[in-house]
Amino acid sequence: MVRKITSLGGYIHEYQKSVENPKAFWEQQAEDFYWRKKWDNALEWNFEEPSVNWFVNGKLNITENIFERNMFLRKNQTAIIWEPNKPDEESITLTYEELFRKVNQFANALIKIGIEKGDRVIIYMPMIPELAIAMLACARIGAIHSIVFAGFSANSLEERINDTQAKLVITSDEAFRGNKIIQIKNIVDEALVDCPCVKNVVVVKRTSGKINMKDGRDVWWHDVIKGLSEENESVEMDSEDTLFILYTSGSTGKPKGIVHSIGGYMVYSAYTFKNVFQYSDNDVFFCTADIGWITGHSYIIYGPLLCGAKTLMFEGIPTYPDAGRLWEIVDKYKVNQIYTAPTAIRSLITYGESYLENKDLSSLKVLGTVGEPINEEAWHWYHDHIGKGNCPIVDTWWQTETGGISISSLAGIIPTKPSFATLPLPGFQPVILDNNGNELSGRNVEGNLCVKFPWPGMLRTIYGDHKRCKETYFSKFKAYYFTGDGVKRDEDGYYRLLGRVDDVIIVSGHNLGTAEIENAINEHPLVHESAVVGYSHEIKGQGIYAFVVCSELSTGGEEGIRKSVIKGVTKIIGPIAKPDKVQIVKELPKTRSGKIMRRILRKIADDDFTNFGDTSTLLDPELVEIIIKGRVK
Ligand code: PRX
Repeated sequence: MVRKITSLGGYIHEYQKSVENPKAFWEQQAEDFYWRKKWDNALEWNFEEPSVNWFVNGKLNITENIFERNMFLRKNQTAIIWEPNKPDEESITLTYEELFRKVNQFANALIKIGIEKGDRVIIYMPMIPELAIAMLACARIGAIHSIVFAGFSANSLEERINDTQAKLVITSDEAFRGNKIIQIKNIVDEALVDCPCVKNVVVVKRTSGKINMKDGRDVWWHDVIKGLSEENESVEMDSEDTLFILYTSGSTGKPKGIVHSIGGYMVYSAYTFKNVFQYSDNDVFFCTADIGWITGHSYIIYGPLLCGAKTLMFEGIPTYPDAGRLWEIVDKYKVNQIYTAPTAIRSLITYGESYLENKDLSSLKVLGTVGEPINEEAWHWYHDHIGKGNCPIVDTWWQTETGGISISSLAGIIPTKPSFATLPLPGFQPVILDNNGNELSGRNVEGNLCVKFPWPGMLRTIYGDHKRCKETYFSKFKAYYFTGDGVKRDEDGYYRLLGRVDDVIIVSGHNLGTAEIENAINEHPLVHESAVVGYSHEIKGQGIYAFVVCSELSTGGEEGIRKSVIKGVTKIIGPIAKPDKVQIVKELPKTRSGKIMRRILRKIADDDFTNFGDTSTLLDPELVEIIIKGRVK
């Protein structure tokens, strides 16, 4: 049983313990799991290299902690409830035993295909039960899963496949998404043209749409599991072996393959799940994220299942068939905790409250949000209309890199304040540094959010590029982990996140590097250069504004370029990265040394033409006026 804090006094006490003696604190949490061999030392670390090892030489398998460990108590209890895209299609419920059998059988299929411990497997799938089964089967045999959100383009998929050198891709024929059908196997086929590392593709039949199956490479899921045993002996893993790689955008260059290891991630995802959401036995937990993001990894699959929870997996989108869908699901399954993103809430607000009529939301006890700061209006709407004023909101701050929730209130235990993530989880030690690296202690301070001590769920490296890991996270402030976020600590000691301090923008809760979008735009044959910035967007939090310099205009004129730039980005990265606004400019505002003055572009994109700050280094100050005049509203 993962321990649960039950009072504010309890939190303060646990937090203190976790800072005074972090090793002992986390050892106590780790004792609650099943280890084939106990660790020799709870932690060895050094933030300069960086090198972080939790539960050193401990041996385990994470799926044994989900299945064998839960089997005695929960054999016949629901593990996963699956709600399909179309409300009239039948839902699926899998008990712990049923899920275990399916995971074992698919683990046997992976072995049959030739997947071994340490091999990388790419999963590119819609939100169907086989996605959960596939990832757990990988973990069962010690293969490393790397899930790619099925909204990414063939190009993005190819980049991730080649970076991981995966041998196998698991996908489905097509995907239902609202009233659309997405040809995901076709996207895989397109990606695989340049991926010699991939030997096989396993395809789940979801829509029965027509697809191509390549002889010798592609095999149907239902064929590959045929006749295979539903029992499988799990592979013994080291605590520090890699569990998964998950790609996230950075401020420069290509996406980073964030590496998480088994032991620490297991303890951290379970501990944070149970404590933040105050999960009790038999509660139904509903995280609306896609498993292609870290939120889905940690709070649809690993955290809940490690705690023996009932976790709900939803294939569709909040607005299909109408904007009442999430509330219909809450009513249907008597959901107790719901976890979603501010962008979803803001979007649902625009549809009005009529979609809440006739929906019984009285089962709800906790409301969670993640991905970006939740603005006050959305906070109050969520609190009043969904929680009926009775449910605490947990505004959870964390990152792909932190592995699990890091700053958040614990539901009903730490008093909340709209737009504040509140306090750090036990074992997470945030500090605020000024730009010179000085620690700003005390209250009412603002600066760069860093962490001074390791926590078990933290990233271990960037796949194949440890140097980049060091440079990105551990070099700006020596011997600290740098989150890339700005933060304020107020007079109560509460943390309020202020957004990214680097060139990453958060669009609908998704992290996007502006450089990556610029690279995609620059692929356009007529584009000479470009600069992408974020601007405040009512629904998405931030929208994408692209300033584009063209060598010449095509026959379609500016509008033609705009359209083809948007199309190009959608093709290269995926629809999540497509610019909302594209402005064709003669030149970009640059300093005399040739650096783009993004600060100015950000203000223009935000319709704020005051106070451009020091513009004395601008090469051509008149340009700014011209860009303002031509801005896209
Ligand atoms: O800027 C912060 C923002 O999202 C970033 C992490 O994005 P990603 O790795 O995609 O993970 C998102 C889901 C965990 C952070 O650096 N962010 C996330 N949650 C919050 C947030 N900003 C403010 N408040 C939050 N609750």
